[in-house]
Order: sequence, then C-alpha cells, then structure tokens
Amino acid sequence: MCVKFVMFKAFYYNCKIKLQNMNEFGGNWTENKIEILIEYARAYLKIMNGFARKYDWDLLYFDGFAGSGQIQGDNKVNAIIGAARRMLEVEEPRGFDLYYFVEKEKEYADILNSQTVPNYPNKKIFVVNEDCNVKIESLSNFLSSKKGKKFKSLAYIDPCGMQLNWKSLQTLEKHSVDVWILVPTGMGVNRLLKNNGQISDAYSAKLEQFLGMNKEEILSYFYQESKVLTLFGEETVMTKENAINKSAELYKDKLKSLFKFVSEPYVLKNKMNSVMFHFYMASNNQTAVRIANQIIKKYNN
Ligand SMILES: C[S@@+](CC[C@H](N)C(=O)[O-])C[C@H]1O[C@@H](n2cnc3c(N)ncnc32)[C@H](O)[C@@H]1O
Repeated sequence: MCVKFVMFKAFYYNCKIKLQNMNEFGGNWTENKIEILIEYARAYLKIMNGFARKYDWDLLYFDGFAGSGQIQGDNKVNAIIGAARRMLEVEEPRGFDLYYFVEKEKEYADILNSQTVPNYPNKKIFVVNEDCNVKIESLSNFLSSKKGKKFKSLAYIDPCGMQLNWKSLQTLEKHSVDVWILVPTGMGVNRLLKNNGQISDAYSAKLEQFLGMNKEEILSYFYQESKVLTLFGEETVMTKENAINKSAELYKDKLKSLFKFVSEPYVLKNKMNSVMFHFYMASNNQTAVRIANQIIKKYNN
C-alpha cells in the first residue's frame, strides 16, 4: 500500500519523468492533441483577426502545463515539438499578442525559455516557473482588471495527471476565454476510485480537490450500494460501474456550469484501447465550440 502510494505520488503528482529533459510521449494521441489545438488556434486567430482590429482587442495565449518544448518520441529517439513551440509558429493571418507559458519544473521551464524567447524577438513571451493553479487565478484576476478586459484568450490545460484543482478553473467563469482541457478520466479519476469504494484519505483528498466535490458526493455519484447476505449476516457492498464514462460526463457537466458551451470530447486511448483522457473545449461562444466539434470529430474518426 505504502509503496503503491509512493509510486502514485511520483507519477501523478509531480510528473517527474525526465527523459533527456523532455516530456513523455503518450502515443499518437499526443500528436493528435497538439494538432487539434493548433488547428483550432488557426481558426481562432483567423476569426479574431478582424474583431481584434475593429474593437482594439489583444489576444492572449495561456498554456498552463507548457512542458520543455519537446516531447520524447515513442522509440526514444525522435522527439516531437511540444504545443508551446508549435503555437509560436502560427502566424497566419496573425499570432497572439502575448504568450504566457506556465511550467512547474524549473528545468523544463528553463529549457522552454531558452528555446522560445531568443528565437522570437518580436513576440511577447513569458515563461513562468510556477504552479498552474496559482497562475490560472492570476490570469483570471488580470482578465477582470481594466487592462485585462481588452484581452480575449485561448487557454490550453494539458496536465499529465490530476494537478488542476477545480477551484482554480472556477475562477475563469464568465471570462472571454476558450479553454482546451485534458481530463484524466481513465488515467486519474478511475484509478483512484477503488472498486470496493475503500478510498484512502490521500486519494480522496486528491479526488475532492480535482472534482470540487466532497467525499460523500463522490461516493454517491460513482458507487451503488447493495445489501448482501453473508455468513455473518447482511452487509453493505459498494460497486463501481463505468467510472471512466461517468467521470467524463461529470466533468463535462461541471464545465457547463462555468461555460455556456462545451464540446464533445476527443477520446484518448492507449495501445490496449483503454481510455486514458477526455479532451474538451469550453467557451462562452457557440461558434467556437461548433468549430472545436468539427475538428474533434475528424480526429475521433
Ligand atoms: C503533459 S506535460 C505537457 C506537455 C506540453 N503541453 C507539450 O505539448 O509539450 C505536463 C507538464 O506539466 C508540468 N506540471 C506538472 N504539474 C504542474 C503544475 N501543477 N503546474 C504547472 N505545470 C505542471 C510537468 O512538469 C509537465 O512538463
């Protein structure tokens, strides 16, 4: 139990997988996820270009889990370019006015900084070595300020586990921000929800933080109670069914409580065809989500 917990902490909490200073590759969905984001960003910039000129808006790109700028390839040799660097290459018809990259690992943040800031002297790029939760709240405060009200934002939240706290995301409610968010339904939530409902305090605290729900609410949403007759009399048994899909639906509903529109998910599966993540886009703009759905449909197929 103790060893398991230490392993969990090492993998999910800190994501300290260091392969030649690169982030880990998750299969072709890693590439698809970035392609979806970039395709959306191109459409976003094309549409926003006219509006930004007309209304004097500034466009901000916020990446909460930016990584080092490159991702170790499947065969441990070829690397792929991470989303942060790919986003900086998007320039037609325009780029963003400001790029804000957040990365908690100092080593990764330093690499990303050295690979971006000097290469794009004409772009405003900030690489910040911080926790995404802290910086989402700063983003939200900024967007509420007089200066921030001029900004329209695209945010990319790409954690490798359950690092995003629901209360941080909540602060973005009502802002002009389109959010692409990777939800660890299979990789995170389902694994923490033990089949018999016996969830340790540490797992429970993580689930509560991630879902913004208390333990009772979590148990009653994911488990069914039934009575079984045993040798020692009647006992209550907890059973969990379809927790991956249920967590995807739950998160979508929760996103809908913050944003007017939420896309269908792009479903990320591993080589064994097990669902790892659901990738959603949430926005207060219906057209934005319609475009996101068109892109997602193509990749789900
Ligand atoms: C899946 S990787 C991101 C890959 C990146 N989006 C790309 O395309 O290259 C997740 C990154 O988030 C970082 N990270 C983990 N917890 C974090 C937190 N609380 N705040 C900010 N970054 C965090 C990890 O160090 C890791 O580099």
